[in-house]
Amino acid sequence: MNILGIDIGGTGIKGAIVNTTTGELVTERYRLLTPQPATPEAVAETVGQISRFFNWQGPIGIGFPAIVRSGITLSAANVDLAWIGTDAATLFEQATSCPVRVVNDADAAGMAEMRFGAGADREGVVLIVTIGTGLGTALFVNGHLVPNTEFGHIEIGGKDAELKASEAARIREELSWKKWAKRFNRYLQTLENLLSPDVIILGGGASKESEKFVQRLNVKAELMIAAMLNEAGIVGAALAAESQ
Ligand code: BGC
Repeated sequence: MNILGIDIGGTGIKGAIVNTTTGELVTERYRLLTPQPATPEAVAETVGQISRFFNWQGPIGIGFPAIVRSGITLSAANVDLAWIGTDAATLFEQATSCPVRVVNDADAAGMAEMRFGAGADREGVVLIVTIGTGLGTALFVNGHLVPNTEFGHIEIGGKDAELKASEAARIREELSWKKWAKRFNRYLQTLENLLSPDVIILGGGASKESEKFVQRLNVKAELMIAAMLNEAGIVGAALAAESQ
């Protein structure tokens, strides 16, 4: 089935039509900058533009960087605070005139990796960490998603982990890869102590540059790099809409 997948990030909003049977993109990706401030109305307008670009009439899956329950966004770490309590699914349906399913962006990326990527057919506890503007997490137990885990916000040394160990933190603080990897390794080890995953899959923007840091990470779990890299968010969002 073809579904329009859209990945909303703190910096960019990307969409493509996805063949959900193969996990492949049927079209090129179309990317627009996330409007600033990223208010619900402004983001909905950009989502509408993406859907019109593809002349799309059909189901749409959207990954959004917040807790999402039944289409309602319940947190706002890197987007406008007005998202808290917004009925995002209805807002995007009005902007696109299409049926929309909204899920957490890391959960979407995780679904794609578990179906088509590094986690395909993996049993046990699999933890996906997306490294980007925020730190996103998706937890799977024997292939089943535990949604909205939000482990990017665990406290380490009294600080919100994503403020210290995300890609945005590396850039903001001009950290060397070595310094950043040390922080990120501490983050992974903390998660490992809490969850004892069998596999940890690293995704998100930084996974494209994994050769710069992966050798500095030291965890007991099998460590893998996301096979779908940055496309996982779009593909997974489409998968979420398929199972609606
Ligand atoms: C948000 C999560 C999101 C992650 C990655 C965090 O700041 O709280 O909901 O999955 O960023 O975008």
